[in-house]
Amino acid sequence: MKVDNFRLKLGGKEYVPIVVGGMGVNISTTELALAAEKLGGIGHISDAESGFVCDSIFKTSFVSTKRKRYIDCIGNPDKSRVQFDLGEVAEAQKKYIEYTISQKSGNGLIFLNCMEKLTMNNSNETFHVRLNAAMDAGIDGLTLAAGLNLRSLDLIKDNPRFRDVKIGIIISSTRALSIFLKRAVRVERMPDYIIVEGPLAGGHLGFGPDDWHTYDLKTIFLEVLDFLRKENLDIPVIPAGGIFTGTDAAEYLSMGAAGVQVATRFAISREAGLPYQVKQEYIMANEEDIVVNMASTTGYPMRMLTSSPTLRYAIRPNCEGLGYLLENGGKCTYIDAYYAALEVKKPGEQLKVHEKTCLCTGMANYDCWTCGHTTYRLKETTNLLPNGKWQLPRASDVFLDYQFSTDHSIKLPEPEGC
Ligand SMILES: Cc1cc2nc3c(=O)[nH]c(=O)nc-3n(C[C@H](O)[C@H](O)[C@H](O)COP(=O)(O)O)c2cc1C
Repeated sequence: MKVDNFRLKLGGKEYVPIVVGGMGVNISTTELALAAEKLGGIGHISDAESGFVCDSIFKTSFVSTKRKRYIDCIGNPDKSRVQFDLGEVAEAQKKYIEYTISQKSGNGLIFLNCMEKLTMNNSNETFHVRLNAAMDAGIDGLTLAAGLNLRSLDLIKDNPRFRDVKIGIIISSTRALSIFLKRAVRVERMPDYIIVEGPLAGGHLGFGPDDWHTYDLKTIFLEVLDFLRKENLDIPVIPAGGIFTGTDAAEYLSMGAAGVQVATRFAISREAGLPYQVKQEYIMANEEDIVVNMASTTGYPMRMLTSSPTLRYAIRPNCEGLGYLLENGGKCTYIDAYYAALEVKKPGEQLKVHEKTCLCTGMANYDCWTCGHTTYRLKETTNLLPNGKWQLPRASDVFLDYQFSTDHSIKLPEPEGC
């Protein structure tokens, strides 16, 4: 039994049923998404901090322009004035997506992972602009993630591509799905696919920080299939979180999954955005180095390596240039934690900010080492080189291993230099 025996059917077309999940900020790069698309699967880019991502790729100056505009707010805990220019948000979004889409060369698709929790100090307006600009730029699909805004469909219903762009949602419970579907019925636009993300995924989790281990993907996935059957709804369901081998994937496909979404194994591929040394840290990690904590300012638990530099951050909030996670009204729990820590700091003492981290800066600097639970198994997927480093597989090595492997075997990449 292998993944290649199955196909993902979307909008009357067939794809290799492997979806590379969105990994912000720019971990699921254009190059990674295109590698999946080229092989007939689906690749995601993420629009988290797209202004910052554009600056890194195109040498634009979205971040420095915004920082200059609000320079007088630096050092002030009140960030209510620090607003994004909606024209600039649209421009960055279009630039990045057009750049990615224009390089498509296969029969697959490129989707955008859109985190609703990227509230950007004006959640509705900025989300409206992000979604519509992405559609205008030609994205094949929008995957609504982290926070699942019930108003998302209303925000795009006047876009000419509303019925043609693929729309998917990420949920972790049947309850969240049924709430979203009630809203979808009202605008007569059902999602084209449903990603069921279990508790072993990377990034933010849709479970509590203390009870995530009491849930399992297979149970939730089967509940969702059952729910859809009872509601007479035929929507492709794509499980995600902890699917480590091609055989794990094929097992879900034979249970009725339309495809699988995977990310952790691709995070260490050459095409992924993490720096080389961070990829080495991921591969070297042991199970006890991987934790779920509440350091993220989004209010959601997040899985990360204990060695993640963000867990030791005590930096001044950087909202003037970034500010992607500011709640409406300019609030962020890191700002509160930072200024509370400043107040109790004694002269000569090092500043320590407990509990929260500056996620905007951490993600932008690749200092927040978020990862899936199976990260400790990455050693099984590649070769240890004579110099003591681990070989980084190509995204196509990982993709093809998922597609063709059997019996839980993992094909190692061709050793370097051969
Ligand atoms: C490094 C990393 C970053 C991630 N970032 C995001 C993100 O920004 N948004 C999101 O919806 N999911 C994110 N995820 C979740 C993945 O898209 C995916 O659904 C999940 O990790 C699949 O499980 P696996 O990693 O066990 O294969 C991330 C996962 C990883 C490993």
